[in-house]
Amino acid sequence: MIKMGEIVNVKEIVENKKVELKRRIEELNKRNIFPKLALILANDDNASRIYVSNKRKLCDELGILEDEYTFDKSVTKQEILDLVNKLNQDENVYGILVQLPLFEHLDEEEILLNINPNKDVDGFHPLNLGKLAIGDETIVSCTPKGIITILDSLNIDLKSKNAVVIGRSRIVGKPMIHLLLNRNATVTVCHSKTKNLEDYTRNADILIVATGVPHLVTKDMVKEGAVVLDVGINRIDGKLKGDVDTQGVLEKVKYVTSVPGGVGLTTVVSLVENLVEIAEKINRD
Ligand code: GUN
Repeated sequence: MIKMGEIVNVKEIVENKKVELKRRIEELNKRNIFPKLALILANDDNASRIYVSNKRKLCDELGILEDEYTFDKSVTKQEILDLVNKLNQDENVYGILVQLPLFEHLDEEEILLNINPNKDVDGFHPLNLGKLAIGDETIVSCTPKGIITILDSLNIDLKSKNAVVIGRSRIVGKPMIHLLLNRNATVTVCHSKTKNLEDYTRNADILIVATGVPHLVTKDMVKEGAVVLDVGINRIDGKLKGDVDTQGVLEKVKYVTSVPGGVGLTTVVSLVENLVEIAEKINRD
């Protein structure tokens, strides 16, 4: 009989995390601290609307205050910058989230750079990315943070493991590399210009795939007993597909996350976790 791997029960991991966060938020509330998240949506992308709505729902469920600011295409860069500056000054606002992508005419870099790094709940500010690179993980981008939550829940010790990341985006790949390095993994980064991808993936104890190419990773590309985390969300004929052929690799790996029902579930929880960490830190200092 073929020994099959396991699809990670991310839902259970997320439910446990929510219980922990609810308790921490109640502790803050008892001290009269009611952290608020400000969400800025300036694009007309349907997926982004759904993501923002999911973020707001979780805040409501866990007792976090939130305000959404939605703009249409007529918005100017200055209007967004003025709002960001106002939110930077507002002491009830602990986190500012600018949903990406923005309308094309807006300058993403400049807008992200103007968020107070201490309120940068997404961890996209260069200062927070730089801090992460030198081992300070105070605020970390939500998807990579969620991947670490999954690996920790599975009791996977990253020390000396071969970790391969496919993808080098600001949101996933780059922060992921540092989180793995900070945990003493041996890290290899692959991307769209990498030749002979399978030469790297076949050696990966931990394989993190964030490319946007549906079912890029197949059974013949993974190592026996590997742990595979699939970050891809590809819409094909109205269905969601990951970057990994889940059923195929399942015959070889120890663990794989599914799409839907995988890494994506942890992203929103990591956002609330970042916000709670910001609130705890400000009120500790
Ligand atoms: N767009 C895609 N992923 C994200 C995310 O994690 N945060 C924000 N703000 N925008 C995104």
